Amino acid sequence: MAQSIFKCISCFKEYDIEEIQYRCDCGDLLEVMHDLESAIPNPQSYKKSLDSGMAKIAFNRYKSILFPSLPDSSIITLSEGNTPLYDVTHSFPQFNSIKLKHEGMNPTLSFKDRGMVSGVSWANHLGCEKVICASTGDTSAAMAAYAGATPNMKGIVLLPKGKISPEQLAQPISFGALTVGVETDFDGCMKLVQQLIEKHNMYLLNSMNSVRIEGQKAISIETLHQLNWKVPDWFIIPVGNAGNISALGKGLRELYELGIIDKLPRLAGIQTEGASPLYKSFQNGYLELIPQKAKPTKASAIQIGNPVSYKKSVRELIHFKGIVEVVSEMEIMDWKAQIDRLGISICPNSAVAVAGAMKLNRNGIIKENEDVVVILTAHGSKFSNTSVEYHKSSVNQFANQTLSITPNLETLENALNL
Ligand code: F0G
Repeated sequence: MAQSIFKCISCFKEYDIEEIQYRCDCGDLLEVMHDLESAIPNPQSYKKSLDSGMAKIAFNRYKSILFPSLPDSSIITLSEGNTPLYDVTHSFPQFNSIKLKHEGMNPTLSFKDRGMVSGVSWANHLGCEKVICASTGDTSAAMAAYAGATPNMKGIVLLPKGKISPEQLAQPISFGALTVGVETDFDGCMKLVQQLIEKHNMYLLNSMNSVRIEGQKAISIETLHQLNWKVPDWFIIPVGNAGNISALGKGLRELYELGIIDKLPRLAGIQTEGASPLYKSFQNGYLELIPQKAKPTKASAIQIGNPVSYKKSVRELIHFKGIVEVVSEMEIMDWKAQIDRLGISICPNSAVAVAGAMKLNRNGIIKENEDVVVILTAHGSKFSNTSVEYHKSSVNQFANQTLSITPNLETLENALNL
């Protein structure tokens, strides 16, 4: 079986993968490194083998690049992956092509399932009985589900009280996790959970745990596979804690290093105006991260002021000639309405990325001859209140107001203009 190790992203110190380790002794983040050349000696036959493995669940299909050293017998899956890549170019002819990779079509309705299949499977392999995370709602839902699917594993989730949607709150509760509302924001929960795991024997499943990142690489790998390995010019992704953009970059880098793809796309990370620490750092030439108090936003899953994976994300942004942009609350909800209207139900966090793609196109940064893939991170059904509120008000440009009538045929005919 191919070997994997943890390696510090700053000082390159290496650690045994079988040890529980989140940060290097120097304090920086670790990443998982695999002996991919042994796992995939021949890129051409690898591509062929992937096509014949289409019936498999996504994690198993891509396992030799995602996490070759994870034993098959430890895998906990809920059949995540195989998510649709919608071509919506017909509605947006200002792009050469624009496709939406809908990660909201995963079992717990967000991309977090991709990372939990590796994170919880690894916890299962290590024999961990308690897994824990801080969350803005989606990590907690996914972790609780995968812990629920594992024999002898208890999930514990820390949530910023009153700051997540009712649907997101219902998920960890129903999946049997111990659910703790903390009177703080996400950054406060994240700080608390890091203090807790210093003292107690619990396995942390935030994306600070680099094992999670390995599963999330499947998003870019599966997208490229769906595109028959034709690399788009851009990947656009919303950014909160900055784990997903780091995973996107790592997956693409590994595909390129293996010779499976022959070109690198550019990356665009998109944030909200009120929660934009990465954007501010980008404007500053990535000199430093200045943590901020993130302001409330409809995109509540990315209301984060101190992204844990900041350094990893900057490394990927530089490698992929990336840029960072921000969008307003109105842009988020107007673009959400326009994508929902196509029958593709998206959450406000995903709409941040769509709005970003549109803004970059309007500003001439994404050219009209370029191919774009936007990563949609969660399903609209997780945030139904935001849709109901938006469509109530005629002030909103794309509102589809409901009619309310008494049960009378004539009234109905009048209401329908018949
Ligand atoms: N979109 C959604 C729907 C999310 O839930 C998150 C993060 C992101 C985008 C941003 O991804 O943090 O890797 O940059 N949600 C985390 C959570 C923070 O706890 O569910 P990121």
